[in-house]
Amino acid sequence: MCSDRKAPSLRRRIVAMSLCAGALILFLTGSLILAVSQLFMTAERRGLITRIANDLAQEYAEASGDKKKMRHFFEEIAEEHGADKVSLLITSAAGEEIVSMCHSDAILRAMLAHARRNVPEYRISKESAAPRRRRNVLRVKTTELPDGRRLSVGCDVANDESYIAFLATIIGCSLLVSLLLGGWAADLLARRFIRSLRNVSDAANRIRDGEWSVRVAPSRESREIALLEDAFNTMCDRNEKTIRELRTLTDDIAHDLRTPLTRLRTAAEFAAMGGQLKTPLSEMVFEQSSDMLELINTMLEISQTGCRVDNTPRENIDFCTFLRETADLYSTVVEDHGLSLALALPPEPVVFSGHKGRLQRLIGNLLDNAIKFTPKGGVISVSLADGADVLTLRVADTGCGISPRDLPNVFRRFWRSDASRSLPGNGLGLALVKAIVTSYAGFVTCESEQGRGTVFTITLPH
Ligand SMILES: Nc1ncnc2c1ncn2[C@@H]1O[C@H](COP(=O)(O)OP(=O)(O)O)[C@@H](O)[C@H]1O
Ligand SMILES: [Mg+2]
Repeated sequence: MCSDRKAPSLRRRIVAMSLCAGALILFLTGSLILAVSQLFMTAERRGLITRIANDLAQEYAEASGDKKKMRHFFEEIAEEHGADKVSLLITSAAGEEIVSMCHSDAILRAMLAHARRNVPEYRISKESAAPRRRRNVLRVKTTELPDGRRLSVGCDVANDESYIAFLATIIGCSLLVSLLLGGWAADLLARRFIRSLRNVSDAANRIRDGEWSVRVAPSRESREIALLEDAFNTMCDRNEKTIRELRTLTDDIAHDLRTPLTRLRTAAEFAAMGGQLKTPLSEMVFEQSSDMLELINTMLEISQTGCRVDNTPRENIDFCTFLRETADLYSTVVEDHGLSLALALPPEPVVFSGHKGRLQRLIGNLLDNAIKFTPKGGVISVSLADGADVLTLRVADTGCGISPRDLPNVFRRFWRSDASRSLPGNGLGLALVKAIVTSYAGFVTCESEQGRGTVFTITLPH
């Protein structure tokens, strides 16, 4: 189910954002090119006008303002720069025409009007008369001559302006084309990117619908997508494993509770029908319910001790004394089974901060197993080594051992080897050992050789 169908699609967002970013960059670049070109051309035209004005002012001074000579100079400048490119005018201080050379009357009139108003720099745009109707655009500069008259120099900038307009059109067109291409490329990329995301969401939906084995095929689209796919697949693997384990666990619990309950019910039924039981019913109820209670308590302890580091208050325990006491407790059982128990402990006390009860259950389970799986005449050895940061406890026996095939299963809840099913137990002892060791941030390993014995090594940081 989509949580927000109204939210804009990622593809549209990517395309829109790419278009906006592209348009902004292109617009700024285009404007910069236009502005620089405009500035460059204006500076050049201004330079030309100033040069002509200076030359003419000098000639004017040399000719003492003679009209004929000035006209001659005007013609020379027109010849040099093109008659239709420059317009020249000298007016009296009142703005009356003295001498001029303009390539249309309309321009002359406009220049006179500006000269009268005494505007230093201006722009004239006039259409020339038929048959060559063409727009004349002039940049004009008026300077005052030493005798009070005014000199106006105009330069045609129509070509410059049409060049700028042409440049603007080209930039506009390329902006449009670039935007179209950019939008298309962004859409293409967005589609590929979204396809990979869809694969992940499709897989998630299929898993939600019960297809636990579905995984995302690597799309190799990008590193980030690959990381997402990897993380998704790893998460699914873990979830699937946990769910399978939980299922097995529930089945095992149900199975282990069913046997004593069935026995109890059968015995109760038999007694109710007046049958004679070998063991009195009350004794049987006590035995079977104790077994069930032990199973449930151990299950609870495993889950409470959990697979996590524990922070409940601890007490300082001397591990050597603790092991000696535990060995004493077990000495009778060990002897009864025709076994011997050897202790190898360091001479100095080894202080460990932990919970006595929990540690007793840990050693107790390992010793129980060693006693249970070691035939008469065997030896059980318990040793302790104190390292800089860790203490290492080893419980070894010379018993039947565990086959390499079974070795990876020993710490699984309810797992028991086929050979040990006939012996008392519920398959929770080693799972509890592992949970306790984990609660102290330690490690437990098991090495075994079939027919020769088993060694459990526990490393606890202290
Ligand atoms: N010292 C040992 N020697 C041989 N097999 C062992 C030893 N310890 C454990 N195992 C195997 O691991 C299984 C699980 O042990 P555990 O969890 O203590 O369950 P339980 O003792 O109730 O059978 C045992 O049933 C047995 O098959
Ligand atoms: Mg056991």
